[in-house]
Amino acid sequence: MTKGQVSLRGKDILGLQGMTVDEMGLILDSAKEMKNIIDRDIKKVPTLRGKSIVNLFFEPSTRTRTSFELAGKYLGADVVNVTTSASSVVKGESLRDTLLTVEAMGVDIIVMRHEAEGSAEFAASAVSPVIVNAGDGAHEHPTQGLLDMFTIREKKGNISGLKVAIIGDILHSRVARSNIWALLKMGADVSVAGPRTLLPRDLEKHGVKVYDRVEAALEGADVVNILRIQRERQQKGLFPTTREYARIFGVNKDRLSLAKDDVLVMHPGPMNRGLEIAPDVAYSAQSAIQEQVKNGLAVRMAILFLVLMGGNDIEVSA
Ligand code: NCD
Repeated sequence: MTKGQVSLRGKDILGLQGMTVDEMGLILDSAKEMKNIIDRDIKKVPTLRGKSIVNLFFEPSTRTRTSFELAGKYLGADVVNVTTSASSVVKGESLRDTLLTVEAMGVDIIVMRHEAEGSAEFAASAVSPVIVNAGDGAHEHPTQGLLDMFTIREKKGNISGLKVAIIGDILHSRVARSNIWALLKMGADVSVAGPRTLLPRDLEKHGVKVYDRVEAALEGADVVNILRIQRERQQKGLFPTTREYARIFGVNKDRLSLAKDDVLVMHPGPMNRGLEIAPDVAYSAQSAIQEQVKNGLAVRMAILFLVLMGGNDIEVSA
């Protein structure tokens, strides 16, 4: 099937492990068009007028929730946010019943973030609106993975053949997993590094190089993606102290100098500045961290558009 024939209409966006390169390519190409809208003075287009989107977030979020909300609004859809701490979930309503309630209101898309791995897939099997996974536990965060691919492609021109290092808490990171599946499919050379206790060794069988020394992964890297230490997902301390972590695994200027001169620095946010990333790295000229946020909006606009309208001929004129 050629890219021109790929359609995501009606498809749930659950993860990148199950997404084809052509589907990812369609989203990235559409996101490029969408990014032009964000730069306009008047951003609203009528493309999704009459469609409704519910953001159902069972976990905290700044970037992802806000960008999904703005993405829907820029495209003219009605967007409602359900923050579960202020919903009937606190009265004990189950995930299925919450989903059925939202479905009964006739929504077209449910964007969901939930702490349980597999919750997005469960939602897709439970209700009929399109489900877009905005993060399910440590499993996947497909829109983050795609915005990272968009950022790499925009800055480096391509992804195939690049050496990409992912540093930090790989074990608990849905961002790492979605990045890894996409990068491998797109032909990048992927290394991960972090404390042994935070490294899933089974990644090796997928062709990922796994290091317990950050320096080994950074050597000659074209891209470094630095991950947040996911303290909320750690039942027991899997590394000694934060000071120790910063000293041994933190990405600072010295360590970064092992990478290529034009290395691209990324972080999905929120950052623990001074822990996994030094401030002068976060705000360096090589850092694309702010651009990632903007690209996240473009990618989410593309996804909302594609799952509702299909095809790749975008009608974005106001
Ligand atoms: C990530 C998340 O929530 O998975 N953040 C995000 O979506 N920008 C990463 C993180 O929380 O560390």
